[in-house]
Amino acid sequence: MFKTIEWKDNKVIMIDQRLLPTQEVYRKYTDFLDVAEAIREMVVRGAPAIGVAAAMGAALGALDIKTDNKNIFLKAFERVCDVMAHTRPTAVNLFWAIERMKKVVKKNHKFTVEELKQKLVQEAKTICREDIEINRRMGKHGSKFIKNGDTVLTHCNAGALATAGYGTALGVIRAAVEEGKKIKVFADETRPFLQGARLTAWELMKDKIDVTLITDNMAGYMMKKGVIDLVIVGADRIASNGDTANKIGTYSVAVLAREHKIPFYVAAPLSTIDLKIKSGDKIPIEERDKREVTHIPAPASIKQGKDIQIAPDNVKVKNPAFDVTPNKFITAIITEKGAAKKPFDKSLKMLFSR
Ligand code: MRU
Repeated sequence: MFKTIEWKDNKVIMIDQRLLPTQEVYRKYTDFLDVAEAIREMVVRGAPAIGVAAAMGAALGALDIKTDNKNIFLKAFERVCDVMAHTRPTAVNLFWAIERMKKVVKKNHKFTVEELKQKLVQEAKTICREDIEINRRMGKHGSKFIKNGDTVLTHCNAGALATAGYGTALGVIRAAVEEGKKIKVFADETRPFLQGARLTAWELMKDKIDVTLITDNMAGYMMKKGVIDLVIVGADRIASNGDTANKIGTYSVAVLAREHKIPFYVAAPLSTIDLKIKSGDKIPIEERDKREVTHIPAPASIKQGKDIQIAPDNVKVKNPAFDVTPNKFITAIITEKGAAKKPFDKSLKMLFSR
């Protein structure tokens, strides 16, 4: 089985998701600036995975600070955290993980610089390990929504590749399969970055889970034909009222699901819920490079720069990476502490106090 991200011998090791599904290449990082670049460039992506990467990047950055003076160390560590925080804006897990790293420093101010560095490394490893445990718990809570024989539609990749392992939306599917249920999955290809085609299809096939790939514009037709029993997606940030930011196209799937009376579930850890944000319109939406829309990346076997152009030179382009699904379209939000139903402003808060 592949590992999405790992801390080994003071290095961060990540599978390069840009090369999947044709090449399984692991990159080693020793410089936090390169980890920041890897998050920006989507070597690693998916909300919980970029949280883990940010924490490990911060730990790498801390190891690299060459001083015994605590004040100098603290200032330099702030700067490291700042760099990590300016990689991608939407997934709140990234900021949540950086906050956890900062808390380690605040809580242990009596320790030496060397001891602090070791504590930061430990915290990054803990965040990584806990993420897998959380996903397994989420899977157990969510699998009850899937019946034997169901076909599940998912959008983007909310699997092992988007987390430290097991996955959120795909974790729920994995848990149902582990319980012996016969499940089929339909994966939207997820233009423009093709996380569904390249990543979801790849990891489900590796696990021998029955997956059928469709283009995004086929979802409505499949629903109308009665092929889809339920939808499960992940999330990048959930506002306190349940409005959910996830990969661009999720909103359209949710509207289609409502029209066809198909339940629509979001699976996400509590670290994706941003209680400070009251509604979805306050969630910052990342706008990515127009080239993701105007070009199809060259297969990994072809040299860089040979991307295939599919739109006219200089065409105007919009490329928001996420959209927001209003809470009214969401049947339940599945977390590691159980599932929340409407009204979400009450039920989500209750989960935090469990
Ligand atoms: O741009 P990406 O690939 O980082 O977007 C990922 C998604 O939108 C996922 O669905 C979300 O992060 C949930 S991952 C468990």
